[in-house]
Amino acid sequence: RVVAVLNGPNLNLLGEREPEIYGHETLADVEARCRHEAARHGLAVDFRQTNHEGDFIDWIHELRHSAAGFVVNAAGWTHTSIAIHDALAAVAGPVVEVHISDVHAREDFRHHSYVTPVAALVIVGHGVTGYEEAVAEIAARVGAEG
Ligand code: DQA
Repeated sequence: RVVAVLNGPNLNLLGEREPEIYGHETLADVEARCRHEAARHGLAVDFRQTNHEGDFIDWIHELRHSAAGFVVNAAGWTHTSIAIHDALAAVAGPVVEVHISDVHAREDFRHHSYVTPVAALVIVGHGVTGYEEAVAEIAARVGAEG
């Protein structure tokens, strides 16, 4: 079974983009962390990133029945996108929302999330290890072997 890990805009620049906020690890490092954690639970990972909101929505549709669960860092779209909210409302498995930084300790415009109402759990401010926690959480919720 597969956990979908979907990353939104600018996360392709992870490691070079505002490292004082997001750290020095790259998105490839995050992918490796997710694969390692998923493998511990007998799960595979479908790991993707895009800067195009329509692609992000198409991926949610594509994976909505097949994915055991979704780890979603919608990045800036978290705070803007009713369309991503609506797409995630249609998925079968649990959604875990992840933010590397502590969005609640940052600008006011990061305090509201359109993803949270459709998320089973929100993990913020744990750095990139939040992704591993999210994968483990999905494994627990779908009863994957550990
Ligand atoms: C982020 C937080 C968002 O506010 C921001 O737009 C991002 C990354 C995070 O992982 O901390 O791009 O989702």
